[in-house]
Order: sequence, then C-alpha cells, then structure tokens
Amino acid sequence: MKYDTKDFKLLKNEEIAKGIFDWTVENSELCKLAKAGQFVNIKVPSRTLRRPISICDACENTLRLVFQVKGEGTKLMSQMPVGSYVEILAPLGNGFKLEKGKRYCFVGGGIGVPPLLFSAKQTENPMIITGFRNKDLIILQDDFKKVSDEVYLTTDDGSAGIHGFVTDVLKEHLGEVDEVCACGPIPMLKAVAEVCKGEVNCQVSLEERMGCGIGACLVCACKTKTSEGEAMTQVCRTGPVYNAEEVFYDA
Ligand SMILES: Cc1cc2nc3c(=O)[nH]c(=O)nc-3n(C[C@H](O)[C@H](O)[C@H](O)COP(=O)(O)OP(=O)(O)OC[C@H]3O[C@@H](n4cnc5c(N)ncnc54)[C@H](O)[C@@H]3O)c2cc1C
Ligand code: FES
Repeated sequence: MKYDTKDFKLLKNEEIAKGIFDWTVENSELCKLAKAGQFVNIKVPSRTLRRPISICDACENTLRLVFQVKGEGTKLMSQMPVGSYVEILAPLGNGFKLEKGKRYCFVGGGIGVPPLLFSAKQTENPMIITGFRNKDLIILQDDFKKVSDEVYLTTDDGSAGIHGFVTDVLKEHLGEVDEVCACGPIPMLKAVAEVCKGEVNCQVSLEERMGCGIGACLVCACKTKTSEGEAMTQVCRTGPVYNAEEVFYDA
C-alpha cells in the first residue's frame, strides 16, 4: 500500500448541518492517489492518536472530508481555522471495488454517507439512497443530485423525504441495479446485506475504532468469515470495505 504523511492547508471549514463539518484541504498529491471508499488519518493538535475520516471527494487539487463531532478529537478538528495546516496520513485502506459496465446502488446512513459521493462519481448512472434520523442531519443531497438522476432520501421520523429506512427504498429498486455499496451504522449494514442476499452482490464499509490506521497496532482487529472459516482481520489494512457476506454483524 502506498501512503504518505504531510501537512496540508485547510481551505474551508463549514458547519453544513448540526455538528457536521465540511472540510476542503489543498492536496494535489493525494487527489491523484485516492480511490473510492478509502480514508485518511488526521493528526489532531495535542492528541497522540489520529482520527480516521473517509474521503468524501477528491478534485484536481483539493480533498473533501465531512465529519461529525463525536468526542474531543473531532471537536478540536471542527475548531481549526481556515488557513491552518492539517497533518494527514493517506490514502489508507481498501475501498469499494467498482467495475465498468455495472450499475451500482450506493446506500448510506447518517455520517456513513460522505464516502459514497466520491465512489458514485466513478460509476455510470448510479442510484443513490441516503437515510438520516431527521431533517436536521441531512447532508450532501445537492452534491448527489449532480452525480445521479436517481437520488432517494429517507428520514426515520418522516421530517423530510420518504418516511422510513433506506432498506424500504432498496427493496423496491433492487431489480434495477447490479451491485450495492453501503456505508453506515452496523444495524443498517446488516439490514442492507439481508435485502441483497441471494439477489445482488453487496459491499459494506465498516467503521472500527482505530489507532495507527496502517496495520501496526491491532486496535481495529475484527472477526470475518472466509472460505476457510473465521479469521481475524485489520479493518484499516484489509478493509474498511468487505463483501457483505464476510461480516459478523452481531459480534
Ligand atoms: C475507516 C473510517 C472512516 C470514517 N469516516 C468518517 C467520516 O467520513 N466522517 C465522520 O464523521 N466519521 C468517520 N469515522 C468515525 C471517526 O473516525 C470518529 O468519529 C472519530 O475518530 C471520533 O474521534 P473523537 O476524538 O471525536 O472521539 P473519541 O470518542 O473522543 O475518540 C477517542 C479515540 O477513539 C477513536 N475512535 C472513536 N470513535 C471511532 C470510530 N468510530 N472509528 C475509529 N476510531 C474511533 C479515535 O480515533 C480516538 O483515538 C470513520 C471511522 C473509520 C474507522
Ligand atoms: S488501526 Fe492499527 S492495526 Fe488497524
């Protein structure tokens, strides 16, 4: 795996929904290397461990990262001023495997939605289904509409879009796609995998607590199913994307 660490200038830091921040960093080198579903590991000032964040988009000279404030690290990140420098280790992990000629459906839940933008951009005629708890947490809808003519939005409480879950929409349209790529909370990934089982192939992006992000510390170890039985895997190095059938959702 080829990755590097460098300081990059923060060009934009904007709160796009309550507690959710949209970063643009100047990064001509990484943009060329980044692949769909990969992530970066960010050095937070005064913290030892880096924070893993998915690549939301990579344009000619900039990298886009969208993150939600969860604890101290992401809070500090949200307060970093435009013009400051961010130390980024990237690009990391193995992302979605996307084949030419296939129609993909990208299914995202909550803060699992960002990596699907860069991924969907690399496919033809993608279908996008994103779901959020309520209208205040909705993100990236205008961006997805630029990439696809078929964008579905659901909210758990019905405050915007379709009242229900992403899987309600996926069940209706599964026959129109060749493969599904999903990122979001584990219960959502489990439900998406069940809908796809026996119908279409499904790839899921997992989120595990991480330390190093490069396969050196084992913090992200998780059990997966292989053709030879159960095996431990490092989500940062082997994943974060797995075939849906390889994952233990209830572990
Ligand atoms: C591959 C990958 C991609 C991710 N992409 C995004 C994204 O695009 N947007 C987004 O908002 N969040 C994303 N996350 C989750 C994000 O990394 C955590 O929310 C963040 O690390 C929390 O850090 P904190 O200091 O605010 O929270 P704390 O709870 O204070 O963190 C304490 C420690 O635990 C680690 N940690 C805590 N939660 C997680 C977690 N869920 N995953 C990994 N390490 C964690 C932190 O790195 C830190 O070392 C991703 C996680 C992974 C593994
Ligand atoms: S985070 Fe250290 S091995 Fe995966």
